[in-house]
Amino acid sequence: MMQKLDDLFTQFQSELKDCKNKQEILNLKPKYLGKKGEISNILKSLKDATAEQRKEIGPKSNEVKQNIEQLCAKSLQNFEIEEINQKLAKNKIDITMTNSVKEMGLRSTGYHPVTLIQREVEDIFLSMGFEILDGPHIEDDYHNFEALNIPSDHPARDMQDTFWFKDSVHLLRTHTSTIQVRGMEMEGRKPPFKFVGPGKVFRCERTDASHEMVFHQIEGMMVGEDVSVSHLIYFMKTLLSQIFKKDVEVRLRPGFFPFVEPGFELDIKCLICGGKGCSVCKHTGWVELLPCGMVHPNVLKYGNIDTDKYNGFAFGLGLDRLVMMKYGIDDIRHLHGADLRFMTQFHSF
Ligand code: DAH
Repeated sequence: MMQKLDDLFTQFQSELKDCKNKQEILNLKPKYLGKKGEISNILKSLKDATAEQRKEIGPKSNEVKQNIEQLCAKSLQNFEIEEINQKLAKNKIDITMTNSVKEMGLRSTGYHPVTLIQREVEDIFLSMGFEILDGPHIEDDYHNFEALNIPSDHPARDMQDTFWFKDSVHLLRTHTSTIQVRGMEMEGRKPPFKFVGPGKVFRCERTDASHEMVFHQIEGMMVGEDVSVSHLIYFMKTLLSQIFKKDVEVRLRPGFFPFVEPGFELDIKCLICGGKGCSVCKHTGWVELLPCGMVHPNVLKYGNIDTDKYNGFAFGLGLDRLVMMKYGIDDIRHLHGADLRFMTQFHSF
C-alpha cells in the first residue's frame, strides 16, 4: 500500500506537468484529494491492513495529501503570475512617450497667460529688491477686514461680495491685501521692508466681460522711514513700462480704501481700443488698473509698527486685467474657459 501511495504521487506529478491552465489543475485536484478520489480509495482499503501497516500508512497518506495540495497551489500561482505578466505586456504604458505627443495629434499648451504675467511681475519686483510672499485662500475676518481697518459696517463686508463659511468667521479672501497683514505678522519682520504677494481672490459677484468670481491680484507693500507718494509712483511706472515694453499713459485719481490714506486709483489708457472706448474700458478709454495709496496708520498699528517713525505705501494690482491689456483680450471669461484654441496662443518662458 505504501508503494501504491508513492506510485500515485508520481502519477499526480506527471499529470500536473501536463496541465495547460488553471482550470485543468482545478479539475485534477479532486481526482486525487476528493471524497471519492484516489487517496480516499486507498484509505478505504485500510480496513484489511494490519495495525502496524496502518501506523505507517496514516502519516504517509497525509504527507502525500499535503504534497499534492502544495504542488497544486504552487502551479496555480505560477499560472496567475504568467497571466498578469501577459496582461502587463499587452497594456504597456510608455512613460517616456511625451516626444510623440505631436504624432498622436495632441498639442502641448504651455503656461496659462495669468501664470506668465504673474512670473513677469514677480521678476520685475524681485529685480527692484522686493520679497515675494504667499498667503492662504481661506482667511478669517481679522486678516481680510479688521486688521485692514475695514470696520464691520463697511459695504465690502456685505454678504454679496464675500464667500463666507458657515462659522461666519472664515471666508475666501476677497483681496490679496490679507498678505499685507500676514507679511507684517511674520516673525522677525521689522521696517524697512518691501514685498509683493500674488494669488487668487474670490468674490461673490455676477460675471460679465470684465468680472469673474475668481481672479488674480498681486499685492505690494513698502514700509520704511519717509516713504512718499513719489516712491509709489516711481515703482508703479517702472513696473508698467517694463510689462508693456513702452511708456504707458497713466492718470491718478483719488480713491477710497479703508486701509490707505490718501488712497488713489491709478488708471492706464486702454491699450485695446487706444482710448476710443470698448467693453474692457467700459467705453471710457481708461482702465482702472491699480488701486494704491499710503498705508493707513491703523493698519501699521495692527502690524505692531511704530507709526511715529515709519510709514509706507501699498497697492493691489489686478493680474487678469493686466493680461487682457497686454494680449488684447476683450472678455475676462476667456481666461477661465480652458479652450485650447485660446490657451495655445501664449508663449511660455
Ligand atoms: N484690496 C483692494 C481690492 O481688492 C485693492 C487695493 C486698494 C489694494 C488699495 C491696496 C491698496 O493695497 O492700497 O479692491
